Amino acid sequence: MEQIDPCSWCGSVQQVSQRDQLNQVRLEKLGAYPFERLKSLFSGHISKSDLVPIDAGAGEPRLPLPSFVADTLSAHLSGFSKYPSTVGSLELRQTIADWLQQRYGLQYVDAATQVLSANGTREALFAIAHALINPEADKKPCVLMPNPMYQIYLGAALTAGAEPVFLPCTETSGFAPDLDAVPKSVWANTALIYVCSPSNPTGWIADKDYFAHLLALADENDFFIVSDECYSEIYWQNKPVGLLEVAESLGREGFSRCLVMNSLSKRSALPGMRSGLIAGDADLIARFTKLRSYTGPATPLPLQAVAAAAWSDETHVQQNLDVYRNSLKAFFDIYGIEGTTIPPGSFFVWLPVAHDEDFSVAAYEQQAVTILPGSYLAAEGDDGINPGSGYIRAALVDGPDCAAELARRLRAVRV
Ligand SMILES: Cc1ncc(COP(=O)(O)O)c(C=O)c1O
Repeated sequence: MEQIDPCSWCGSVQQVSQRDQLNQVRLEKLGAYPFERLKSLFSGHISKSDLVPIDAGAGEPRLPLPSFVADTLSAHLSGFSKYPSTVGSLELRQTIADWLQQRYGLQYVDAATQVLSANGTREALFAIAHALINPEADKKPCVLMPNPMYQIYLGAALTAGAEPVFLPCTETSGFAPDLDAVPKSVWANTALIYVCSPSNPTGWIADKDYFAHLLALADENDFFIVSDECYSEIYWQNKPVGLLEVAESLGREGFSRCLVMNSLSKRSALPGMRSGLIAGDADLIARFTKLRSYTGPATPLPLQAVAAAAWSDETHVQQNLDVYRNSLKAFFDIYGIEGTTIPPGSFFVWLPVAHDEDFSVAAYEQQAVTILPGSYLAAEGDDGINPGSGYIRAALVDGPDCAAELARRLRAVRV
């Protein structure tokens, strides 16, 4: 038996036979998902408090179902007796194209060639690296990603046979992934970059100049941009710009090199629907479609009908936004903003603490609160620093009263 290298993500080591080693090494590099790590962290610790537990660990909106869901679903039940196409019904793709045009002021989005339905954005963010990376390239291609990050980007890069490169998002960079800190040699070998705006977990939002700079770098160095815009409708003050909008404003044709992903999980508080969108460069969409015709991540037709209704209605989105904003306000009214800031986007608060794991355990034990240590959402960089350590992430997904109670309890935590 041999040991393979410890996981760069969580440090775990596994014994494997030599024969299995090659097969397992890629998967082992993935390490444990943050929520698995959290379970291990809490094991043996008892939530002593008799308080009602608050789960602010996962980013799962728990707001009322939009009113049209039940009626639309029941009107389309017969769709369960048909195989759905992986690309999504043309009706859904047209609705998505219309939404993109209206939301970002785009001149034209072609539903047939520039839009796909996703079975939740998670699978699409993962699979896209497999469609765009050549693992047989002479030199391992680089996939760049923010750090901390939504962990799927890292899993995608590793399993696609690419070299993950982490762009630290720290207070010093205003939580932006610092493009200017990337060496020229890395840009030259970059195949793909993931951007997340608004960002999970930091709440940072890319502005027009940031996207424009990135597009220039993409042209110069011949790489693709995947912009994860799942939190686009959740913002404190200014509506976030999107990559496609910036690309068009710069006069680029056909959104070249760009793909965006967005989701009904956050804007419509429908995470159980597993429905999202992929849109952009028709060539990239065609390549992705080819891969997806084999992997087959199709959303059932009745759910596609509900998805079309959800992309067509902004009333419930505005209502949800009001709840998220009121939750942020309720939280910071009690927690205070000294040493931290109200996140510009998303529903997460990213709070500095002395030691993130100890703080999370203490919050669980003393206050029946589940939050994620920031270091679980980031990887150690070449400098040996994990930019997530010293932070915790809490999701404000249960409305303002719960957010206020969460703030009270977090303030009361003693480490
Ligand atoms: C940044 C980010 N991207 C994508 C997703 C995936 O969302 P879904 O698969 O529900 O569309 C999430 C979910 O938490 C997320 O935080």
